[in-house]
Amino acid sequence: MKIAVFPGDGIGAEVAREAVRVLEALNLPGLTLVEGDVGAIAYQRHGHPLPAETLDMAKASDAVLFGAVGDPSCDNLERHLRPEQAVLGLRSKLGLFANLRPATVFQGLEDMSGLRPELARTIDMLIVRELNGDVYFGDKGVRETADGEREGWDMMSYSTSEVRRIAHSGFQAARKRGSKLCSVDKANVLETSQLWRDVVVEVAAEYSDVELTHMYVDNAAMQMVKDPSQFDVVLTGNLFGDILSDLASMCVGSIGLLASASLGERQTKFGTFGLYEPIHGSAPDIAGQGLANPMAAILSVAMMLRHSFGMEDQAGRTEAAVAKALADGVRGRDLGGDLSTAAIGDAVLERL
Ligand code: NAD
Ligand code: IPM
Ligand code: MN
Repeated sequence: MKIAVFPGDGIGAEVAREAVRVLEALNLPGLTLVEGDVGAIAYQRHGHPLPAETLDMAKASDAVLFGAVGDPSCDNLERHLRPEQAVLGLRSKLGLFANLRPATVFQGLEDMSGLRPELARTIDMLIVRELNGDVYFGDKGVRETADGEREGWDMMSYSTSEVRRIAHSGFQAARKRGSKLCSVDKANVLETSQLWRDVVVEVAAEYSDVELTHMYVDNAAMQMVKDPSQFDVVLTGNLFGDILSDLASMCVGSIGLLASASLGERQTKFGTFGLYEPIHGSAPDIAGQGLANPMAAILSVAMMLRHSFGMEDQAGRTEAAVAKALADGVRGRDLGGDLSTAAIGDAVLERL
C-alpha cells in the first residue's frame, strides 16, 4: 500500500503531520509513505506548484493525502504558477471528478455551531461536489473591450457526460445513506444548470429507490441554516459545492472538522484511487503557530482507509477516536479551547 503525502503550505503541512502520525499508529501491513512538494513550497523549490515528479508520485501511489496549498506571496503570480493550481491540476489530471464532503454533527459540539444547538444536532449530510468542470476549468481570461475597459471572463459549462457520471456518484451515495438526493443548481437563470437538472432527472430513472428533489443554490444556502436536517445527499457543481461546503462546516462547528475524498474511475488492487484532504486551505492567518485543528485531515485519513483501502474497521476506529476526543472536550482555538495542533493529534492518538 503506497500513499503519497503532499503537505503543501501553511497549516497544510501542520495538519498533514498529525494525520500521518495517526496513519502510522494504525500499523497497517505493508504501508509505504512517500512525500512530495505541492503549492507555494513547490514553486519555490522547483519553479512550479505541481512539479512533474509530484504528479508522477501520485500516479504511482494507491492514494494521496493532501494538506493544503496557498500563500499570499503568490497572489500576483501568473495564474498557472499559483499554488492553487497544484490541487486543481491533481484533481483534473488524475480524473478525480467526485468530491465527497460529509458534514455530520459531533456529540458535545452543538454549542460551537453557528446554528442553534437543536438545529446543529440534526446535521447529517454529504455534499457530492463535481470537481472537474464548471467555471473552474472553462476558458478564462481578461481582455480589453472596444471602450478600452478591461473585462474578465470565466466560462461555465457542463457536458451531459460530466453531469451523468457525478449524478451516478450522488445517487449511489444516497443509496448507502438516507436515500434522499437534493440536486442544487441555478436552473432559473443558467443554461448550464438547466442541462444539469435535465440530466439528473434522466439518471434518476435508474434509482427509483432514491427520492430526488431540486433546489436553487441561493435557497439551498438559506435552507441549510434554517433546517439542515432536510438534507441527506446534496449533489451540486464545482463552484456551488465549494461555497456550500464551507457553509456546512460552520453548521457543524468549525472548518477544521470537514474532510473530503476526491474519487475517479481508477481502481487499484485495494480499492478506488483517491485524493484525501481537509476542505480548508492553508490559513495564512494562523500558519506556523500550532493553532490549526488537524481533525479534518485526520478524518480525511479515515475516508482514505474506507474508499481506497476497503478498511472499514480502521476507518471507523479513526472516526471514533476523533469523536471521542471531541466528546471529551478536546478543543483547539477554532472550537473555543487552547490545545495546539500537536496536542489535538496526541489526544486523538490516545483514543485510537
Ligand atoms: P482557509 O480555509 O485557509 O481559512 C479560512 C479561515 O478558517 C481562516 O480564518 C483560518 O484561520 C480558518 N481555518 C481554516 N482551517 C482551519 C483549521 N484546520 N483550524 C483552525 N482554523 C482554520 O481559507 P482562505 O483564508 O480563504 O484561504 C487561504 C489560502 O488557502 C488561499 O491561498 C486559498 O486559495 C487556499 N485554499 C486552499 C485549499 C486547498 O488546498 N484545498 C482550500 C481552500 C483554500
Ligand atoms: C477547496 C478550495 C479549492 C477549490 C481552491 C484552493 C482551488 O477552496 O478545495 O475547497 O476552490 O476547490
Ligand atoms: Mn473551498
